[in-house]
Amino acid sequence: MEKNYKNIKIIVKGSYGCASATAADIIGGFVTAQPSGVLGLATGSTPEGAYTKLIEAHRTGKLDFSRITSFNLDEYHPIENTNSQSYVYYMRDKLFNHINIDPANTHLPNGEAPDPHAECAVYEAKIAAAGGIGLQVLGIGLNGHIGFNEPATAFPRATNYVELEASTINANARFFDNADDVPKHALTMGIGTIFSAKQILLVVTGAAKADIVNEAIFGDITPQVPASILQLHPNVTLVMDESAAAKVLENLK
Ligand code: GLP
Repeated sequence: MEKNYKNIKIIVKGSYGCASATAADIIGGFVTAQPSGVLGLATGSTPEGAYTKLIEAHRTGKLDFSRITSFNLDEYHPIENTNSQSYVYYMRDKLFNHINIDPANTHLPNGEAPDPHAECAVYEAKIAAAGGIGLQVLGIGLNGHIGFNEPATAFPRATNYVELEASTINANARFFDNADDVPKHALTMGIGTIFSAKQILLVVTGAAKADIVNEAIFGDITPQVPASILQLHPNVTLVMDESAAAKVLENLK
């Protein structure tokens, strides 16, 4: 199912696998159209399926990442790069080590940086120097966060140092041995950084996200639901599986 709502192209697929294939097609389409473009990438369990499909497309000679530059949304702080729960480890493990992207062209906020505020400024400047993000891949948190921009009283503009909400720590604890091991802070592109991307791909899967994605698309535009800002972006594609889309489909009727 495909439908436009405001500037959002909504695509609903029957399963996680099909939604992942569609997301990979969109990312692959960008890489083909803009072989030296700038990709904004996300972590979490949602994009894993799409990354697997991109690796397959690369292995079968369909995608060349050799001139692509990437910037990830976020990283815990503090965290060692060698920690298997760091986002830099995730990106190498799930994507970068299996495609021909130049490691020197891949960027994440540095979870080892001694001064997190200075690191945010450095990261924002690197994105600007690269000409901004061409296609930004996003997931959504259960509380509506994008990147690690938690519900707040204002939309953070630039890359910022955030304190994670208890609900985010709990949601991400499944990846760690112990909930106490989840870092309490993170570095994240700001809402302004994300919003400046020319094109946005939001991927949402699983029944647990049905309420929050519905609120983000049809609710008020408010920093209490950070993803709601996407209602104002001129070029958003929202890819969902049927379980995540349940409420949105009701509203589209
Ligand atoms: C994490 C990440 C986000 C991600 C979101 C959803 O905390 N910081 O970038 O989109 O939460 O993650 P998942 O796809 O695992 O549900």
